[in-house]
Amino acid sequence: MFQLEKLIRANIQRLTPYSSARDEYSGEAKVFLDANENSLGSPLTKWYHRYPDPHQRKLKEKLGVIKGISANHIFLGNGSDECIDLLFRCFCEPGKDNVIICPPTYGMYAVSANINDVAIKKAPLLDDFQLDLVHLETLVDDHTKLIWLCSPNNPTGNCLYREDIEMVLNNFNGIVVIDEAYINFAKQNSFIRNLADYPNLVVLQTLSKAWGLAGLRVGMAFASPAIIAVLDKVKPPYNINQATQELVLQALEEVEQVNDMIRLLVDMRDALAEVFLLMPTVEKVYPSDANFLLVKVKDARKIYEFLLTKGIVLRDRSNVALCEDCLRITIGTEKENTLLVDAMRDWYAL
Ligand SMILES: Cc1ncc(COP(=O)(O)O)c(C=O)c1O
Repeated sequence: MFQLEKLIRANIQRLTPYSSARDEYSGEAKVFLDANENSLGSPLTKWYHRYPDPHQRKLKEKLGVIKGISANHIFLGNGSDECIDLLFRCFCEPGKDNVIICPPTYGMYAVSANINDVAIKKAPLLDDFQLDLVHLETLVDDHTKLIWLCSPNNPTGNCLYREDIEMVLNNFNGIVVIDEAYINFAKQNSFIRNLADYPNLVVLQTLSKAWGLAGLRVGMAFASPAIIAVLDKVKPPYNINQATQELVLQALEEVEQVNDMIRLLVDMRDALAEVFLLMPTVEKVYPSDANFLLVKVKDARKIYEFLLTKGIVLRDRSNVALCEDCLRITIGTEKENTLLVDAMRDWYAL
């Protein structure tokens, strides 16, 4: 049975979190002399001399409306990378606990595990980039706290089968993290809708991809209020800065513009996949539910280096197991995609 209290590290259970000035008073006073800010102002606008709302209330309310979920199910991090690190810090005892990852997948799960001195067990994806449930099950032991699933997966681009994810959610008594950084480009629905069914579920999303706000650093964790409370306890008090909170609130008004960008990126992705498939140097274009394509080519490293000489940077994934000879290609603007296609044609015309 899933028991959250048993998963939380003992020191985190005991922790008295930092109580900021803005925690202790958040009303509308006339004179704020409680946070050692610069009362005279700043060289920028009048707002930036004040600490931001540590709970990002306005932001969560607005995100809650867009995502169809109440604010107490939402945690915001300085990018989803901060959410990833916090999950390790809240739930994994360094030197004792372990987590399961399914490579090839997003590199930060392993890096964060290593930073936190948490052992990594690997259940590599099968040849079709789906979960190896039989292997995965054999890896679980009493110290397995988190299973990391990425869907759509980076760098392979595919969604994991929904029934497989449900199987893990139904049978694992630790926390299942589903990283949905690329979900807006996918046909599958988000697992946010299923939070009520799974007390052990954490869904990660980000504003860095479809929303085009990578520079502002906002990642989201969606989970039960009990899990959100643990993350809130451990996070730095002001992890989402004032400028970001203001700009994101502004951006969240533009859902239609974002939907238009998503549609365009998906169309360009599918068109680009067809163009690549016709190239003699391309062996395979993997189906993608994300804003990038994983493409298997002859001589990946050489093509990568050739494109660099043309000022075009791709991600060479040819050293990654199961991605041998693969390049990961982010969908660019129409013009960038044309430059890439022309340069690839130059390569095989050589
Ligand atoms: C699967 C996945 N998760 C998380 C992230 C990190 O996102 P953020 O910019 O929110 O830290 C990335 C970034 O590439 C990613 O590919």
